[in-house]
Amino acid sequence: MDFVELVQDRRSANNFLPDQEISQKELNEIFELVKLGPSAFNLQHTRYITVLEPDLKEEVRKAANGQYKVSSASAVIFVVGDKKAYQQASEIYEGLKLLGIVNKQEYDHMVNDTVSFYESRGAEFQREEAIRNASLSAMLFMLAAKEKGWDTCPMIGFDQEEIKDLLRIDEQYEVALMITVGKEKVSSRKPRGYRKPVSEFVTYI
Ligand SMILES: Cc1cc2nc3c(=O)[nH]c(=O)nc-3n(C[C@H](O)[C@H](O)[C@H](O)COP(=O)(O)O)c2cc1C
Repeated sequence: MDFVELVQDRRSANNFLPDQEISQKELNEIFELVKLGPSAFNLQHTRYITVLEPDLKEEVRKAANGQYKVSSASAVIFVVGDKKAYQQASEIYEGLKLLGIVNKQEYDHMVNDTVSFYESRGAEFQREEAIRNASLSAMLFMLAAKEKGWDTCPMIGFDQEEIKDLLRIDEQYEVALMITVGKEKVSSRKPRGYRKPVSEFVTYI
């Protein structure tokens, strides 16, 4: 699908057709594209917790104000950001050293610079980074899913703590977003909401 068409066709699904299975293989094809997305210092802060199991989906629905599309979705995905992603800098940059792209001294600098960047800015910044990076990744997920023929809806209507308990998400992670994935029930689609003109949301200085 042409990119412009893809962006124009993506909608937040109001509901999904029931019984549309999505396989892990299909999801992994989407995630193979998602992994190419940008992240600060290439730290790849984002994790995707993918709920496919019907009983667990029902538990998620309860923690999501009973929203029906959580049940009809083929998959319910929690996009979480790692507040301590910077602690993996040494592993992530190791390949550059092994390939001889950077020498040992440059590698040590890269790791130390990244770690001190996050440590010096503190917990609030680390939390912002988790959410910022996970949110960017989530947008790429939704576009990649659309390109593969799957519809999505980004959602914040859920109880953070209940979801963290249910899915045993460690305190190290911030839940940025829930994304329901499925085949949109087009008959339930509402007209696209009002969009501000470009002049209202863009400033040139
Ligand atoms: C951060 C975020 C949270 C959202 N939360 C919900 C939600 O909880 N439930 C829902 O039905 N839609 C949710 N939406 C979808 C928006 O309502 C939708 O994107 C907006 O109305 C524009 O419609 P469109 O995506 O079809 O263009 C959310 C969207 C974003 C970006």
